[in-house]
Amino acid sequence: MAPSMHNAQPWRFIHRTGSRSVALYGDPDRTLPYSDAEHRALHLGCGAALFNLLVAAAHAGWTATVGLLPDPGAPWHLADVALDEAEGADRDLADLYRAIRRRHTSRFPFSDEQIPEPIIDGLRSAALLEGCQLITPSAWHADAVMELVHDAELLEAANEAVRAEIATWTRTARADEGPAADGIPADALGPRQYGVSSPVRDFDPSRREPDRAVAVFEEHPQIALLGTVQDTPADWLRAGQAMQRVLLQATLGGLATSLMSQPLEWPELRSSVRDPSSAIGFVHMVFRLGYGPQGAATPRRPVTEVLSFE
Ligand SMILES: Cc1cc2nc3c(=O)[nH]c(=O)nc-3n(C[C@H](O)[C@H](O)[C@H](O)COP(=O)(O)O)c2cc1C
Repeated sequence: MAPSMHNAQPWRFIHRTGSRSVALYGDPDRTLPYSDAEHRALHLGCGAALFNLLVAAAHAGWTATVGLLPDPGAPWHLADVALDEAEGADRDLADLYRAIRRRHTSRFPFSDEQIPEPIIDGLRSAALLEGCQLITPSAWHADAVMELVHDAELLEAANEAVRAEIATWTRTARADEGPAADGIPADALGPRQYGVSSPVRDFDPSRREPDRAVAVFEEHPQIALLGTVQDTPADWLRAGQAMQRVLLQATLGGLATSLMSQPLEWPELRSSVRDPSSAIGFVHMVFRLGYGPQGAATPRRPVTEVLSFE
């Protein structure tokens, strides 16, 4: 149920019978060579899937111990999770379980209602618990991020390979499109933005979907940036866990959420997304938060494809 870039679901879980452990692997067949050449987004999605596993374990009353990147010689082996039935499961983690199936990316307009500061504070703490930082940019910085989103849209429009990659993962009932169990379905696209004031990606810029509505989005989107001090694969996995903790907690708090990585996908834009006065060295995700419709559920591959037993 975790979010992943373009809903590529780049994860595989292996349970070694009798071991009480689950190993998480990235799936090299589900990379995005043009939008995610370094596999940072892949690690974020897998970090989110790992966090869901920890939440589910806590919900079942188990404790879990995580080892990130346990084998330096095997970069696709992202984590080992040792499960223990001993008393002491984390209740705060277990509470988030209710949100796993409720959370969806919402590409709909949100209202202008301000999110109360205690809710934002709670989301900052959620990120800190996973060793990451969440900051809400000031007005000038939020405008600057929106400018970078526009720049990313222009770079994307001019880059045929990136456009083709996005089209590969968008499901608009074309004859040649990929399987229905992954990618972004038409009913999750949301309306086309009139004016583009809000950081919501248009997955159908070439207008294959004829009946898509047009809507005015919030003029001052409420955004938050998730970042870390360093930028290693372990940081990407931690950022994925923090991203999912923030999303699940926001969902329980009644917020609708969407994710935006467009300006982070271009090395020439990514460094400008950070606030030079913050302690964040590298930004991994731009959240849009607010009050509005939850997005539609997107498909997932069957469990038999993502979990195997050895
Ligand atoms: C690393 C990463 C980057 C993403 N970038 C974007 C983005 O730029 N725009 C967007 O609308 N959604 C983005 N998403 C959200 C995914 O498209 C979404 O998670 C996926 O389609 C599954 O849908 P769900 O979140 O509703 O379960 C991103 C997700 C991840 C994990």
